[in-house]
Amino acid sequence: MAVDLLLGLQWGDEGKGKIVDVLTSKYDIIARFQGGPNAGHTLEFDGQKHVLHTIPSGIFHDDSINLVGNGVVIDPVIFKRELDNLAKHNVDYKSKLLISRKAHLILPTHRLLDAASEASKGKAKIGSTLKGIGPTYMDKTGRNGLRVGDLELEDWKERYRTLADKHEKMIAFYDVDVQYDLAELEKEFWTAIETLKELTFIDSEEYLHQAMKNGKTILAEGAQGSLLDIDFGTYPFVTSSNTTAAGACTGLGVAPRNIGDAFGIFKAYTTRVGSGPFPTELFDEVGERMGKVGNEFGATTGRKRRCGWLDLVALKYAVQVNGITQLIMMKGDVLSGFDTLKVCTAYKYKGDEITHLPFNIEPENLEPIYTEVKGWKEDLTKMKDASSLPKEFNDYVDFLEKELETPITIVSVGPDRKQTITR
Ligand code: IMP
Repeated sequence: MAVDLLLGLQWGDEGKGKIVDVLTSKYDIIARFQGGPNAGHTLEFDGQKHVLHTIPSGIFHDDSINLVGNGVVIDPVIFKRELDNLAKHNVDYKSKLLISRKAHLILPTHRLLDAASEASKGKAKIGSTLKGIGPTYMDKTGRNGLRVGDLELEDWKERYRTLADKHEKMIAFYDVDVQYDLAELEKEFWTAIETLKELTFIDSEEYLHQAMKNGKTILAEGAQGSLLDIDFGTYPFVTSSNTTAAGACTGLGVAPRNIGDAFGIFKAYTTRVGSGPFPTELFDEVGERMGKVGNEFGATTGRKRRCGWLDLVALKYAVQVNGITQLIMMKGDVLSGFDTLKVCTAYKYKGDEITHLPFNIEPENLEPIYTEVKGWKEDLTKMKDASSLPKEFNDYVDFLEKELETPITIVSVGPDRKQTITR
């Protein structure tokens, strides 16, 4: 069987957690392939809200295996907190959670380095979640990192010490005020490492290869969004991994020819958290309203998300880079009540009208050009099937489908599992 992908197409926070949870019943294995605890995947069902950071969103289903792939970076401390929370909800995670030996570990000093790096950047800071993501991927590509499989080595603690000592020298080099008590941080780190070691470590590329051979269905769950991709995002205001389709190949060891459907998920409008350019950002009461109705606060950091109209130029770019075969539109319900909606269909770039994402989308070079469409008044949150959706909503979806040349097969009209309509 092929591996299907679920990818965020904007700047993250599209609602991947909810959709993986909805789709899980169709898959035997859910696998995360990049990112780490910078992600916050929110799931709501039975009146309860759960936020996962590193653990795949299939963990609440009895029959699915959840794999943390080699491309993921794991902070044992945050991972333990996630496990403790699952235990509180009586989720028997041990039998259905597998960890790749090749996944890299986030050390306490990676988090400190992240803080020092951001502090040293002043106004140019990335707006990182400060979870140590950048420094951990730097150690991975710099060939200094420590991996989950290293925990099985006799000299693991010496390896840890060597790297942590080096990090401390680097923190001092930044010459910024980062206060820390490493002994205290290490105490909780060692406890968390013991918890991690109780889980099953595997050679995950071999596991997936055999699973495919045996006809198992697999969904690769992306984190963050395409516009935060280290290569294709709005660099340098991006995360440090490949969030796009290619990341699933390197982050799981799956060959391109074994990729099946690529589900692309986007919000009916746009949000961004952290710094960086955002052409359709709204600074008025319309943006405020989207943020309020859409409850646009980060699931990981609690930060207020910036809001704006849908940017079809950027979305089309993400559809192309990922080879999206089906689209899923989230939060249509948040746009209820607007007389007209705006959709950015082109940019004015250095005086010319263009319809592709250029190298630089900083506001001094670029202005969005909007197409206006009619809004809808109805509250969508109680609607259960496609036939009850208002005409103006369907017109909006049809317009987007045509522009993106890709079918929108699912629309979500609220945070709960049940508020999901297949078209
Ligand atoms: P980092 O990956 O924590 O270093 O953050 C880099 C940039 O990506 C910052 O602008 C973050 O706000 C953003 N970012 C990282 N992870 C997420 C996410 O899961 N959702 C939305 N934005 C994210």
